[in-house]
Amino acid sequence: MEGVIDAVTRDLLTRDEGLDWTVTEFVRVVDARLPPRVFYKHCPELHPEQRQAHHQDAVATPSGVPVHLQLLGSDPEALAANARQALRLGAIGLDLNFGCPAKTVNRHDGGASLLRDPRRVYRVVSAVAEAVGEQIPVTAKIRLGFADRRLALACAQAAEDGGARHLVVHARTRNEGYRPPAHWEWIARIRHCLTIPVIANGDIWTLADYWKARSLSGCEDVMLGRAVLADPALPARIRHWQRTGEQLPATGWQRRADILDAYAQRQRKELPEKVVVSLLKQWLNQMRGRDSEAARRFQALRRETRLAPFLAGLHAAPETPPAAMPAFVD
Ligand SMILES: Cc1cc2nc3c(=O)[nH]c(=O)nc-3n(C[C@H](O)[C@H](O)[C@H](O)COP(=O)(O)O)c2cc1C
Repeated sequence: MEGVIDAVTRDLLTRDEGLDWTVTEFVRVVDARLPPRVFYKHCPELHPEQRQAHHQDAVATPSGVPVHLQLLGSDPEALAANARQALRLGAIGLDLNFGCPAKTVNRHDGGASLLRDPRRVYRVVSAVAEAVGEQIPVTAKIRLGFADRRLALACAQAAEDGGARHLVVHARTRNEGYRPPAHWEWIARIRHCLTIPVIANGDIWTLADYWKARSLSGCEDVMLGRAVLADPALPARIRHWQRTGEQLPATGWQRRADILDAYAQRQRKELPEKVVVSLLKQWLNQMRGRDSEAARRFQALRRETRLAPFLAGLHAAPETPPAAMPAFVD
């Protein structure tokens, strides 16, 4: 996810079980073949030194969870040239973005704007799939459409016909942005038309959402976006439920504070204090809509710019005993 899931975050989020693979932030392809440094910047896990350091041949987080490279663009030839470049550098999977709703991206004809014409989806997917052949999987991620859902099935079919090995569907149109609800039942319609695996995405925040999304979409797998930041233990809780049928309790504040702390320590090695604090605020902001304690800490720390007091504020004992606080139902 652009601007929020970098290599450090991927590392921290994959230390527990639950995630089968992760995807980088997008590499924006306009016309030229990009130099290796651009790929390494978006996907440090690709770099030979990093792979050596973690004793891994594969492109993966230090815990061994595969990392796929995300490409965003609209020019089939340029995307194909960069797919070959990524392959040469060792990429193990390429995910094509047809979902980005950002005005700047759409104005330049990237992301969800291609969903206005399924033929363009086909051209992009097939050019990239041909460029890498059978060597690595090419996958795609779409929304249900740009302004409406009329072309949802045609775009999904175009991705499959172009050679996508799986399709992630964010169950909203571009114009719906991130507004609830996600239309999981539309994913079922798409799934019925395709032969490749379809993965459900959008508004899966809790175990109950996971179950509902699976039931309504019929998909075996789901993709988690904002929820892994809001509740970093959600993938492990889903996995535990799948394995044992037991629902673990909602993630406590301490677990959230620990991951924020680990994130800060890692980022501080590279970045100035103020930048690290603003990154922490960004992550805490993702947590606060789903966790009352995170909301309270965000409110208390929003003006803090120094790292040490910020971290102390994360770890301070709760003012009210947790049992007396209004709880979010998970
Ligand atoms: C800050 C942010 C950045 C995102 N960046 C990307 C991206 O680079 N590529 C992509 O396919 N989707 C991106 N998305 C969309 C998410 O992957 C996901 O489809 C969407 O948030 C809905 O799923 P969720 O409710 O689980 O978050 C982004 C979403 C957010 C909020």
